[in-house]
Amino acid sequence: MAPSYPRLAPAFREALIGAAQRFPTPFYAYDWPTIEARLERLRRAFPEAEIFYALKANPRLGLLRRFRERDLGAEAVSLGEVYRAYRAGFRPEQVLLNGPLKTPSLLEALQRWGVPILGLDSLLEVRRVGQALPGAQVLLRVNPDLPVTTHHHLATGQGESKFGLLPEDLEAALLEARQRGLEVLGLHLHLGSALERLEDFEAGYALMDQLYRSYGPFAVMNLGGGFGLGLALEALGPAATTLARRHQARLWLEPGRYLVAEAGVLVARCYGVKHTRRSYLLLDAGMSHLIRPMLYGAAHPVEPLYESPQKGVYDLAGPACEAGDVLARDVPLPEPKEGDLLAILLAGAYGSSMSSNYLDTPRPLELLWTGEGLEVLRQAQSLEALLAEEG
Ligand code: LLP
Repeated sequence: MAPSYPRLAPAFREALIGAAQRFPTPFYAYDWPTIEARLERLRRAFPEAEIFYALKANPRLGLLRRFRERDLGAEAVSLGEVYRAYRAGFRPEQVLLNGPLKTPSLLEALQRWGVPILGLDSLLEVRRVGQALPGAQVLLRVNPDLPVTTHHHLATGQGESKFGLLPEDLEAALLEARQRGLEVLGLHLHLGSALERLEDFEAGYALMDQLYRSYGPFAVMNLGGGFGLGLALEALGPAATTLARRHQARLWLEPGRYLVAEAGVLVARCYGVKHTRRSYLLLDAGMSHLIRPMLYGAAHPVEPLYESPQKGVYDLAGPACEAGDVLARDVPLPEPKEGDLLAILLAGAYGSSMSSNYLDTPRPLELLWTGEGLEVLRQAQSLEALLAEEG
């Protein structure tokens, strides 16, 4: 059966095989031409949108600098991400800081470094930010109270979620924000992540239409991120453009996954097959490097970087001491021999950024294939670095 995911571009595949001869595995690698193609497709679908790349998907400075050069802004949700965005050269007015809590110490740091545009998530935040940073430019995040189809950890727009202000609480929050001297640029809607259904977005857009009619005009309409890799962007784009135009607002978007997921792979080495009641292919990469299969049941397709006439079906076992440390199950593969390489696909978003030092696993090397050569985005962490903050 033909794979339903795009195969690795041949030049990138060759580069991965070459890299594995020079660098220890496992490592992440990203195909820049694929990222550029995704950006191009996004811009074609939303020609009038200003795009704030959601750093959380993949925050490597080498990627951020390239996005900045292509006129993207940055979406952050923590002080660390703002710091990183500034280090990558984004100016405060190009950075959007969201998230459900901005502590007094965070606000104080922003005052020193430069205040980004703030996405406010509750009445408490309106008050706190109004007090600490009067005059700041803000958006109010709406909790649209809509069901969406995705993993429940990723459904942020449901009424039960911790995010945003319910529609019925918006009026009071807007009043309070203005009374406190905040400059309200507009409203912000982020429905969830990995959304594949147009209907989910359409329901969100209909609500925004209603809210802008009731409480507008605003300078900006932020429709968030959340685009699933299979979403029909071309069908969605015109609806967003028309909506923003109708309200004479600048259209802002905050995509993360859509731009980088498909470009990234985690390259792991095979160390033999072990049989219990199942057949496990032993890999040097696992849950410390890529937590998504374990956390969300995410399916990451696998492409072998070797050949063999014999075939088998394997579960991909990581090296951790947990039964759940399995990157994929029932994967049909050519029979591997020790040293063979596997590329775990769709790992460019929320792969490295969610990796951990669990079991004193150093963070892996990250490489960028520029289309012409390989660039090191981040060195592999050393064992010594793992101990550095301890006495
Ligand atoms: N804007 C806001 C306010 C967000 O919370 C997020 C993601 C984004 C934009 C970008 O969403 P994207 O376009 O990437 O779907 N760790 C999970 C994904 C969590 C997403 C959290 N918020 C995963 O591995 O799938």
